[in-house]
Amino acid sequence: MNTQLDLGVIGLGVMGRSLALNFADHGFSVGGADLNQAFVKLFADEVGDSSRGFTSTHDLATNLTRPRRLMIMVPAGKAVDAVLEELLGVLEPGDIVIDGGNSHYKDTERRIALASERGILFVGAGVSGGEEGARRGPSIMPGGSEEAWDEISAALHAIAADGPDGEPCCDWLGGGGCGHAVKTVHNGIEYAFMQAICETYALLKGPMGLDADAIASTFGSWNSGDMKSFLLEITETIFKVRDSGSDARLVDMVLDEAQQKGTGKWTAEMALDLGVPCPTLAEAVFARGVSSRHTIREALSSGHPNPTASDTNSLTVQDLRDALFATVVLSFAQGLDLIASASDVHGWGVKLERVAKLWRAGCIIRISFLDRISEAMRGAGSRHLLLDPWFADRVAEALGGLRRAVSAGALQGVGCPVMASALAYYDTVRAARLPHNLLQAQRDAFGAHTYRRIDRDGVYHTDWLGDGQTRAL
Ligand code: 6PG
Repeated sequence: MNTQLDLGVIGLGVMGRSLALNFADHGFSVGGADLNQAFVKLFADEVGDSSRGFTSTHDLATNLTRPRRLMIMVPAGKAVDAVLEELLGVLEPGDIVIDGGNSHYKDTERRIALASERGILFVGAGVSGGEEGARRGPSIMPGGSEEAWDEISAALHAIAADGPDGEPCCDWLGGGGCGHAVKTVHNGIEYAFMQAICETYALLKGPMGLDADAIASTFGSWNSGDMKSFLLEITETIFKVRDSGSDARLVDMVLDEAQQKGTGKWTAEMALDLGVPCPTLAEAVFARGVSSRHTIREALSSGHPNPTASDTNSLTVQDLRDALFATVVLSFAQGLDLIASASDVHGWGVKLERVAKLWRAGCIIRISFLDRISEAMRGAGSRHLLLDPWFADRVAEALGGLRRAVSAGALQGVGCPVMASALAYYDTVRAARLPHNLLQAQRDAFGAHTYRRIDRDGVYHTDWLGDGQTRAL
């Protein structure tokens, strides 16, 4: 048996095993390692003869061709540190470690520095697409030690999903932790996209009174043209699944408490840290938080009734389609702005055009207009999506629907935090003048924090609450 395997995958849980089998399908001999013997057996039983399973990372590493290429697929956090520490004791300068989990980009930056002390090249690669994506073609977002790219690009390109033009949805994104930062923001957009669909469902079901079949066919009919997307596709299917133990649809029997593993929160934290406005992405995280406070919601649901029936307005299905479209576009706009700002601050060199390209297939947020986003981000200085004429026009057309959807939600007591925040974002980000002249005056009045004027340079302080005197500082 040829013991010199092409590459290794450490962690043979669902995602690791699926990726390892995907590599094997594409002609690579793969060493799969896991401490759990049952996982190793499952992998070894399914993979071809040229690949092998190991219960020891050390044994795996000694059976790889040089430079060794190892992909870590273990839960983010301490487990990645533990595997890396073990690997650093075995690997040699020039060997490559790829972390394919949902790691925090700051952890990735720390690991790149740690690995580079030993001459090891560390790559943080976001991988999206769930189990099916990992097995048949995920979207892969790699960044980190660029010298590694030549050695790993063929293997990653081989297993990645193909975009509509046949190009693999995997491309080098830049330095440092940018691969994991881009994946984190992908998930922030995923949270907002999913929440926007849920709010649309609430309005279709409540104010519009549609039943499950009509909701399924409505979502299905929207899943074409500019809104063709994975999330709409699965939503249509979900509404058709019947509960085996009752006459109900299964979705109606699911407890309405959303869980989360933390990447949406990381996106909001990143936005707050960098001062980038991503209110819609943050609202989607808070919306999951509200849903999980089930006991409080139950207690408050009596005694705080819905508005009276007369508080209604006319809302159409087309309005809701437009509201969803505008909210999703504005979520992408915020996420891309965040990636661009993070890249500027950290010096990663991420090109938004590439990010959009590798989200076109394989990942959870894939939607047909990503081709257009890639085009829109090509020109220098055009990094805000609303500066692109096509997106500006489409959002402007959809805005009446968004306004009516948010109004209907407000008037009828159906909370739509993500849609409302997208609308407020649009109305403020496009305003040449905001009321923050007053805010600056307030800060200066109570804290002497100073302000600048619109008609001349300089920094000023006024004794607003005293004699009204102004000093130039
Ligand atoms: C993907 C997903 C995936 C994520 C799940 C669950 O791109 O394949 O983003 O990485 O882990 O969607 O995330 P939550 O548990 O936070 O909803």
